[in-house]
Amino acid sequence: MKFGLFGTGPWAHLAHAPALAAHKDVEFIGVWGRNPEKATELAEQHGAKAYADIDALIAGVDAVAVALPPDVQADIALRAARAGKHLLLDKPVAFTAEAADEIVAAAKENNAAGVVFFTRRFMPQIDDFLAGVTATGGWLEARVDHLGSIFNEGNPFGESVWRKESGGLWDVGPHATALVLPVLGPVEKVTALRGTRDMTHVLLRHTGGAITTLTLTVNAPAKLEREDAAFFGESGVAGVPAVDWQPVQAFGRAVDALISAAGGGPASPLDLEFGAQVVKILAAAAESIATGRTVDL
Ligand SMILES: NC(=O)c1ccc[n+]([C@@H]2O[C@H](COP(=O)([O-])OP(=O)(O)OC[C@H]3O[C@@H](n4cnc5c(N)ncnc54)[C@H](OP(=O)(O)O)[C@@H]3O)[C@@H](O)[C@H]2O)c1
Repeated sequence: MKFGLFGTGPWAHLAHAPALAAHKDVEFIGVWGRNPEKATELAEQHGAKAYADIDALIAGVDAVAVALPPDVQADIALRAARAGKHLLLDKPVAFTAEAADEIVAAAKENNAAGVVFFTRRFMPQIDDFLAGVTATGGWLEARVDHLGSIFNEGNPFGESVWRKESGGLWDVGPHATALVLPVLGPVEKVTALRGTRDMTHVLLRHTGGAITTLTLTVNAPAKLEREDAAFFGESGVAGVPAVDWQPVQAFGRAVDALISAAGGGPASPLDLEFGAQVVKILAAAAESIATGRTVDL
């Protein structure tokens, strides 16, 4: 599969580019970034070419990988989907349900496959764990704490403007939401509050009656940084295992899933529809924070 990469920031360097260059079934064609020097530097590191024009890179590939702020990604993904190109998007797909739905519809209309890179969901130990707890059933609640501290010196993610504005809800919220949905099912009600230091508490009521509590921030004091998640129910407590962070390997599995879906295999469970479902939940949480009301989905 011929790939073009959009984005030259920290995540493109850490995950997308090395994984595309290492994948045996990928031809890594080119890199686009708004800064041509950064695009040239990243492309040259991986034997690809820098492109100055977005549509020229889209035209020259079978699939796009996108590592850009969500609103910038949404625009490029829509253009690529309309050109019939397969999409390997990063989380969150977009900032609005409308933008995410538009990408889903364009991909469907143009037979483009799609996968969204919810990193932990592409780690086999997490996948096995979620399959196990789904089979067990009887869960009454889930709790996910994802407290990051990205504004400390030396953290590359702290430079990103949209993370400062949109906070943990949109940055780590997608990962947290993607963990609970396969086990507890769709969400029908969302309510949320944000406190100091971006401390965002979100309650989700799933259609089966279970409740999820998400605690999210990207601006925690360093001593409070943590990533914990667990399901609670009739059979007791099931903690999501802590696993080694291997983004390049995980991204390789996302590429496998896209190649398989594009070749007529089953759609990935982390497809564009799933990505859009996550966006709807996060947008509802943002609305609840802004209005002080519970939002029905
Ligand atoms: N799956 C995961 O675990 C995971 C982990 C980290 C990040 N991500 C996702 O990956 C994406 C990229 O993240 P990131 O950490 O690299 O930081 P980012 O701030 O989201 O993106 C940085 C890149 O976006 C470019 N950019 C910023 N504003 C732009 C605009 N208005 N128009 C065009 N380009 C623009 C930057 O260009 P300049 O260099 O020229 O400023 C840089 O190439 C995000 O969506 C993030 O959510 C996912």
